[in-house]
Amino acid sequence: MLMICACSQDGKREADKVQEPSSGPSFSQEIQPIFDGNCVACHQAQGASGNLNLEIGTAYGAIVAIKSGESPLSYIAPGKPEQSYLIRKVEGTHVQAGGSGERMPLTGPLDAPSIAKLRDWVKAGAKAD
Ligand code: HEC
Repeated sequence: MLMICACSQDGKREADKVQEPSSGPSFSQEIQPIFDGNCVACHQAQGASGNLNLEIGTAYGAIVAIKSGESPLSYIAPGKPEQSYLIRKVEGTHVQAGGSGERMPLTGPLDAPSIAKLRDWVKAGAKAD
């Protein structure tokens, strides 16, 4: 596990430096907002579609290394986008992964930059930051 220490005197600069592509998108800053804007209307505590709750404060624990209901895959397998059912659902390749149902969101595909961001986050280890 990589520990990041922004403890130099020039703290601000150091903090900027750790935002390299290799550290991946931040869950709270970049991933949860995608869920908020595109998924939570259906995937929420009250009658969660597919038994999946993607609300803030709940989503991370509900998807990372948790087996999906529709397929043999986990929703999110850290480091492995191809093995992550949630990624397969938003890319529309879930049936080939042994899953079922529709491509997500039901209301129409996510924009490409959001899909890329989800993928990058998983690839970089699906960190909780
Ligand atoms: C309009 C309602 C709606 C929206 C918006 C929506 N979903 Fe879903 N979702 C469903 C329903 C209904 C199901 C169950 C049927 C199916 O899989 O097609 C489901 C199922 C799923 C599953 C599979 C659950 C399981 O148990 O394996 C995943 C993963 C998922 N959605 C992810 C997402 C993500 C990520 C978003 C946003 C990018 C999203 N959904 C947006 C309605 C929605």
